[in-house]
Amino acid sequence: MSRKKLNIGLFGFGCVGFGLYEVLQKTPGLKADIRKICVKDKNKPREIAAENFTFDKNDIFNDPKINVIVELIDDADAAYEIVTTALKSGKAVVSANKKMIAEHFEELLELQRKHKVPLLYEAACCASMPIIRNLEEYYDNDLLESIQGIVNGSTNYILTKTFKENLSYEEALKEAQEKGFAESNPILDTGGFDAKYKLLILLAHSFGYIARPENLLNIGIDNIGGLELKYAREKGLKIKLVAQAFKNTDGNITAFVIPKFVDSADRLFNVDDVFNGVITKTSFADEQFFVGKGAGAHPTASAVLSDISALSYDYQYEY
Ligand code: HSE
Repeated sequence: MSRKKLNIGLFGFGCVGFGLYEVLQKTPGLKADIRKICVKDKNKPREIAAENFTFDKNDIFNDPKINVIVELIDDADAAYEIVTTALKSGKAVVSANKKMIAEHFEELLELQRKHKVPLLYEAACCASMPIIRNLEEYYDNDLLESIQGIVNGSTNYILTKTFKENLSYEEALKEAQEKGFAESNPILDTGGFDAKYKLLILLAHSFGYIARPENLLNIGIDNIGGLELKYAREKGLKIKLVAQAFKNTDGNITAFVIPKFVDSADRLFNVDDVFNGVITKTSFADEQFFVGKGAGAHPTASAVLSDISALSYDYQYEY
């Protein structure tokens, strides 16, 4: 089986970018080298030598040896510019930016078709859990009826810590930030927006249904207070932020993100801390349950690594 040699141009060297760098050092079998890393902040101290970095994105775009762009930056608008420029110049792309992908899904599909280059984004949804590839490949001929689950690691971590260890909401959020789980703007997590972007990606891969973010309801965890926690404790329940999508009998899709009380019979009950859990229901397989770490440097880098590896197989992607 022949495999391409990959020369990576990396955008972003934060928590996940550095995680990917470390993970690649430990994966010698994969012939993929980071050739250049483009970062914004010239003064930030870096974990590796200065010669690896550039501050000019054209150093990456104009390098003919770079055949894969890996985009791991936080800013969705800047990510959009990078990803679209890369696709238009015929370079394959791996991205972890759920907001950017959810907001521009149709255009990104069209660019892939037009320029005959792949864009992979397994890390954008549930980090280490290979849910997109499962939806695309395994269920290809088995019709999905519903998909639901915990798709945001930070809020699950916060809910677990406030519930089990009586941490205040602020303390638990601070921990989630320190561990590198939360977005730079944590309202994206706590307000259920991050979960909604992931649900939009899941909707496209489950039902072929492409919706706009503004058309999906998301209620976050910010308004959960002592009363709700007390009620849950008294009744032996837990509170989970759940993204849900199902096909109605008329064929239409209903989808939303809401906090829910779950009881111990629910599979999501034991999905705690930074873990994500997704339950699919299909016509033939019936119910299946996926679980895995949903945020953090190495779990997210693992999904990026998996996309990079997929791009290296000639038979899988031509570009
Ligand atoms: N902030 C996100 C989360 C990171 O907590 O799930 C992973 O997408």
